[in-house]
Amino acid sequence: MTAGTRSGVDPDDLPDGLVVADEGGRVVAFNTAAARITGVRASTALGRPLETALPLEDLKGRRWWALTDPYGGLAIRAGQPERNLLLPSGHEVLVSARYVRTRPTGPVSRVVVCVRGTEARRRTELSHAELIATVAHELRSPLTSVKGFTATLLAKWERFTDDQKRLMLETVDADADRVTRLIAELLDISRIDSGRLEVRRQPVDVAAAVWRHVQAHTAAGQPPDRFLVRVQQPLPDLWADPDKVDQVLGNLLENAVRHGEGTVTIEVAPAEATATAAGDGAEPSEGRNTEKGTAVTVRDEGPGIPEESMGRVFTRFWRGSKRGGTGLGLYIVKGIVEAHGGTITVGRGPSGGAEFRFTLPVGAPAFMA
Ligand SMILES: Nc1ncnc2c1ncn2[C@@H]1O[C@H](COP(=O)(O)OP(=O)(O)OP(=O)(O)O)[C@@H](O)[C@H]1O
Ligand SMILES: [Mg+2]
Repeated sequence: MTAGTRSGVDPDDLPDGLVVADEGGRVVAFNTAAARITGVRASTALGRPLETALPLEDLKGRRWWALTDPYGGLAIRAGQPERNLLLPSGHEVLVSARYVRTRPTGPVSRVVVCVRGTEARRRTELSHAELIATVAHELRSPLTSVKGFTATLLAKWERFTDDQKRLMLETVDADADRVTRLIAELLDISRIDSGRLEVRRQPVDVAAAVWRHVQAHTAAGQPPDRFLVRVQQPLPDLWADPDKVDQVLGNLLENAVRHGEGTVTIEVAPAEATATAAGDGAEPSEGRNTEKGTAVTVRDEGPGIPEESMGRVFTRFWRGSKRGGTGLGLYIVKGIVEAHGGTITVGRGPSGGAEFRFTLPVGAPAFMA
């Protein structure tokens, strides 16, 4: 139905809409994606003038083809950059065009138009709006409490006993911590989303880090027998960002304690790491002869993650239970693991609880390998 290409690539296989018009402005190619995005059948579009086959308007309602006049105008124009335009249905599409000339300043022999749907973009925009709404909400509750207590203390300082004042200040202190933590999470998210998460690698002892986290939980009142740590020695070296590894372990353990039940088992073992493209600009794995790595599994005996939700646990703001926090933890965990070139998966433990497993490649600087 469409023009074949010398490379053997079928235009119908392209993910984006492709529309080609000949030197007379008639449509000679209209691929499957173009038909899907515009809702116009290829058989209807083929042979018709570009402006009727693909009637586009800019956001001010001006007819796009009349406005840009691909076949007229300056003969040095090479095309149109990507624009947000409207279909007659009111749907937004991203459109770019290239004007092909056989001679540099000669007449246009072909107009090649690329059309992309904007659903994906709209989705991220929606989640930005959602992000702002959630952030505002999450920040407001601790700040309301801070304001309430400080205002009360300032107005009635003499009327409270030292103990009462201390209690109020402790609450203010804890709320300030919550705000700080939320802001740190948001900064992490913005770094992850923009690919700017920095990984400062140095040798990391994961097993020791796991023990530290377990001790912190038992010091905070969890019974020591709630945790079972298994370390399979010898472990390969690990070069990673220690603060970020702490963040990952902290989140997974906190989740297991808060959302899970029963014994929390943490296993640290050598593993084959499938190196993903590291987000920190590290050299690709060539030059390192083996892809060794360390795997950490955190598993509990609680209700686990429902099968149908497993694909969503690593997305922002997904919380499965009422005990949920902001739902940002696992999104950040995944971002950190991937910035290290590692992978993380979720599954079901033998007793049905949640089982998270992440693998970090050795990550040694190239000159060390
Ligand atoms: N071990 C677990 N067992 C059962 N459900 C879990 C477990 N870990 C995570 N979940 C579910 O996944 C959701 C998302 O977890 P995530 O860590 O991203 O956010 P959160 O713990 O709700 O909030 P935050 O970590 O930002 O304070 C949780 O709300 C919970 O419903
Ligand atoms: Mg969490």
